[in-house]
Amino acid sequence: MTLKSSARLYLTIFLMTTCIYMVLYQYHISRTQILPDASTEIKVDSKFHSKDFRLVNRQQLGHEQQSQQQEQLQQHKQQSQYEQQQKVEPEKIEYSLETLDNTRTVAPSSSTSTKSLSTSTTTSIKNALPPLYIITPTYKRPEQLAELTRLGYTLKHVSNLLWLVIEDSKTPSELVTKRLHHIAVPFIHLVAPMPEQYRKSKAMPRGVSNRNRGLEWLRANATEGVFYFADDDNTYDISIFEQMRYTKKVSMWPVGLVTRLGVSSPIVRNGQLDGFYDGWIGGRKYPVDMAGFAVSVKFLLERPNAKMPYKAGYEEDGFLKSLSPLNKTEIELLASSCTEVLTWHTQTKKNPVAAKLNVTKYSGTNLLKLTEALVGK
Ligand SMILES: *[C@@H]1O[C@H](CO)[C@@H](O)[C@H](O)[C@H]1NC(C)=O
Ligand SMILES: *[C@@H]1O[C@H](CO)[C@@H](O)[C@H](O)[C@H]1NC(C)=O
Ligand SMILES: *[C@@H]1O[C@H](CO)[C@@H](O)[C@H](O)[C@H]1NC(C)=O
Repeated sequence: MTLKSSARLYLTIFLMTTCIYMVLYQYHISRTQILPDASTEIKVDSKFHSKDFRLVNRQQLGHEQQSQQQEQLQQHKQQSQYEQQQKVEPEKIEYSLETLDNTRTVAPSSSTSTKSLSTSTTTSIKNALPPLYIITPTYKRPEQLAELTRLGYTLKHVSNLLWLVIEDSKTPSELVTKRLHHIAVPFIHLVAPMPEQYRKSKAMPRGVSNRNRGLEWLRANATEGVFYFADDDNTYDISIFEQMRYTKKVSMWPVGLVTRLGVSSPIVRNGQLDGFYDGWIGGRKYPVDMAGFAVSVKFLLERPNAKMPYKAGYEEDGFLKSLSPLNKTEIELLASSCTEVLTWHTQTKKNPVAAKLNVTKYSGTNLLKLTEALVGK
């Protein structure tokens, strides 16, 4: 081959590649124009600015380190989903935290992914979901980190979620902070110690100060979406999160492993709420478990006095009553009209506090560092 003909060959290949690229680009542009401009069409919850959202963004960026082709393919899939969603449920589109787009410009990302137009489009579709606020009270005990880890990795499967982890403590525990950063679900870490007078009572109203602190945070920082009290020792099927996400006022569903009846549930007769099935009614108007209901943020904001009472056994009932007026016909019955168990009131066996390490005997070993990572007394 002469030099001239090989140069011509290279030139031809170059021109063909350019043409193919241009055609693909034109196609891509024409597809993206179908989408409304996310920044103008989607209402942004401007009160919401959590730096902790960055954590997940990096995580998600990590997942997006696929080839450009794969990404475009996925985008087209998502786009058609989006178009469908727009036709069927237009009111569901207006929610957005637009977090990924915001933080992507703010947070210097350590990942090597490309910040292309297509990724930001896909992520804003993902964020067109009403936000979920998961309020988790927690307290110092040997199981604490294990429980938070298990719950955290469950929550990691759920989009557009903010995890409010609230310790019954005067100061945030360093071990908990480290764990939350490691799990990397978007989180807010707060403390709310139980008032001293309740600490002395026989049946301690555990988690009340924490949950009320969570409500206080929501009142100041949230405008849209739904919140849910998720204790760290329970078990959650992730489909319940997608169901509760669209709660208009209050939604309810069964909780397994509650009392000797094995389940606590609203009773549904002819498709309507007709009382409650629970092993302990105790004169409660709402004999339900903490894991069995979710509430809309808007509905909470319309009830400025709603809060949880310091009354062991009556926390759920007291809180739901404080949401009055609430007509029973307005309670949404999830989990296929309360025929499925998607949450369980599991309880972890109490473990003894770890015995103190003999530092003389084990000096210079891994055990020094290892035992520092245990939740002590
Ligand atoms: C609302 O969020 C901001 C930012 O995270 C925080 O500084 C503030 O304390 C929150 N408000 C309440 C009442 O928790
Ligand atoms: C609850 O709502 C239903 C249906 O809208 C209505 O018939 C009923 O009177 C209401 N109950 C109360 C106590 O307001
Ligand atoms: C710690 O270990 C040393 C050396 O093995 C031993 O002499 C000492 O009695 C141990 N101390 C305690 C408190 O068990």
